[in-house]
Amino acid sequence: MNAMNAATTSNVETQATVPLTVVDVQRTADTIALITLRTQDGQALPGYEPGCHIDAHLTTEAGEPITRQYSLFTMSPTGNEQGLYGVEVTREHFAYGGAAAMYRLEPGDTLRISALRNNFPLAKGASRSILVGAGVGIAPIFSLARGLALADATFRVIYFASSAEKAVLSHLIEEYCADRTRNVFASGAREQQADIVRDAIREHGGDPETTHLYVCGPQGFMDGVIEVAGETLPARNIHWEAFRPTEVALAGNQCADGAFEIEFRGMSMEVPEGKSVLDVLEEEDLPIMSQCAEGTCGTCVMRVVEGTPDHRDSVFTEDQHEQGAFATCVSRSLSPTLVLERWRNALA
Ligand code: FES
Repeated sequence: MNAMNAATTSNVETQATVPLTVVDVQRTADTIALITLRTQDGQALPGYEPGCHIDAHLTTEAGEPITRQYSLFTMSPTGNEQGLYGVEVTREHFAYGGAAAMYRLEPGDTLRISALRNNFPLAKGASRSILVGAGVGIAPIFSLARGLALADATFRVIYFASSAEKAVLSHLIEEYCADRTRNVFASGAREQQADIVRDAIREHGGDPETTHLYVCGPQGFMDGVIEVAGETLPARNIHWEAFRPTEVALAGNQCADGAFEIEFRGMSMEVPEGKSVLDVLEEEDLPIMSQCAEGTCGTCVMRVVEGTPDHRDSVFTEDQHEQGAFATCVSRSLSPTLVLERWRNALA
């Protein structure tokens, strides 16, 4: 995992679930759906911020309840009014256990959501922003772009897609960010992507200290963009969001490395192969709040007091890891024992 995510974390939680009505579903290339949702009172969703995501409460075909995260963007014409929001769903997510129910939604259905939270907020004080999205990673990028457009900020969107047909949000980006968009289709070559991003960063000779870059897409793509951005911009100005768990996190979920011990509140517990720290704490009746169980939301954070963690999340920054942040749902240990305590402060 590239550890250059400089985005800060702000949590905007709503405890109860909120019903949203599906008002439109556009499916493209038989793999992607753009779903438009409306609040049932037609009012703005409390806590909505550009870059935030929802926890969608779904039921699998086998009848199992499942929660999955989706980036949320406003679909209201002039901002946050009318209670209209969009999410983008791709069949790629099916392999990770959850989006089939989301993809099958039809107009008139109800989707219950909870816990609006934002791991990808806009930085304050930017003189300009460069937003880079690939594939389904364009959804949080579009959410940020709407926020910047509504604030009349200076920004540029670069949208990489394998074909015009699969660039499912391009009509929205062109509508709301018309003169600030560069769509790039069928562009898989890393060198070409690097040149396009490099040119955008150098455009107008912007001040690197106040230029911020945001990227979302497949991990390899993000790593390439982050590397190019790092040639010019300070690491704190480079923000990325994983839209699905990293492969390391998935491996951790499915076949964890060997056992290790944790100590918490004076108790020692073994974390065996195939179980997470979160699982073990729950079994010992020491529950920790959690949401995604994939290392992407940060809810299950605890602090490492002693020991050497093996970080497998894709949510915490390098600085946050250094402060002791540990995602109990996926991360493991390189030392025989980890001493943990509850995380008491807001993540900086
Ligand atoms: S529950 Fe989301 S990071 Fe652990």
